[in-house]
Amino acid sequence: MLTLQSPEVVQETALRWKRETKIAFVPTMGCLHEGHLRLIRRAKELAPKVIVSIFVNPLQFGKGEDFEKYPRTLELDSESLEGLDVDLLFLPTREDLFPQSFSTAIHVDGLTTALCGEFRPGHFDGVATVCLKLFQITQADFAIFGEKDFQQLRMIQRLTADMNLPLTIVSHATVREEDGLALSSRNRYLTPEERAHATRLPESLKQVRATFQSHPEFPVEDILAPAREKLEGVGFKLDYLTIASARDLIPASGSTLAHTISEPRVFFAGRLGATRLIDNWSLAEEMT
Ligand code: PAJ
Repeated sequence: MLTLQSPEVVQETALRWKRETKIAFVPTMGCLHEGHLRLIRRAKELAPKVIVSIFVNPLQFGKGEDFEKYPRTLELDSESLEGLDVDLLFLPTREDLFPQSFSTAIHVDGLTTALCGEFRPGHFDGVATVCLKLFQITQADFAIFGEKDFQQLRMIQRLTADMNLPLTIVSHATVREEDGLALSSRNRYLTPEERAHATRLPESLKQVRATFQSHPEFPVEDILAPAREKLEGVGFKLDYLTIASARDLIPASGSTLAHTISEPRVFFAGRLGATRLIDNWSLAEEMT
């Protein structure tokens, strides 16, 4: 595995590879877990050359968020990537990607206004800006994104279409722990007690899906209320628990009849102690 820091050298290498083959790319912020590794395995199926980036992107963290304490586990990450036979690990510094002179910001409207957009101002601009840069540097033919960050995935699909980027965005289902909790680098912030309570999150979303499927004629609020109560009961402080269409990500009002929403999904964000967790689940999916 090549490990490179310089954007110029990565771009030169990628341009050379592209003359003969295709490139699949997985952007990450490191502290790799099985969720990331599955995306990388998918990348290996898609193209003969795989590039992974690790960069904790300061642009997407707001004031008072966890940029400083975001877990950095480079040595372990590098070993995992070697084990998966990744071709190139791109490890830029802040100065490499965003020097003092950097003056551009990418804003994708619409899909980014609701849900996390409301609670993390500037976050999606930071993600869009770094991703567009990374796509240019890695010359990716495919880029793989997880459904865990569904709003991010939809925004990147929009950006790619709007700007005619010559790459295909591939989505990957959320990878979960045995008890259903979505894998996340931030799960390691949870105390053992909080981790036990966190089980209520996938349980509640499952409950929302079960009620949606058995009573599609219910108003949205009647479907969500028991789940909200359950989550608040174990100490979750909710940013939102809502049902929105996967098309526009605009939350339905509480009185909307659930079955009138196309491609319905339940979206959650909230804090358990100091840890912010997010999750989402398709409501049309078969029950498992
Ligand atoms: P990060 O949180 O490291 O996630 C990198 C990729 O892994 C994202 O596409 C994310 O959706 C996916 N992922 C994380 N946990 C997952 C899980 N449990 N199941 C499936 N996929 C999962 O998302 C980012 O980094 C950053 O915003 C980034 C895109 C790198 C831009 O800085």
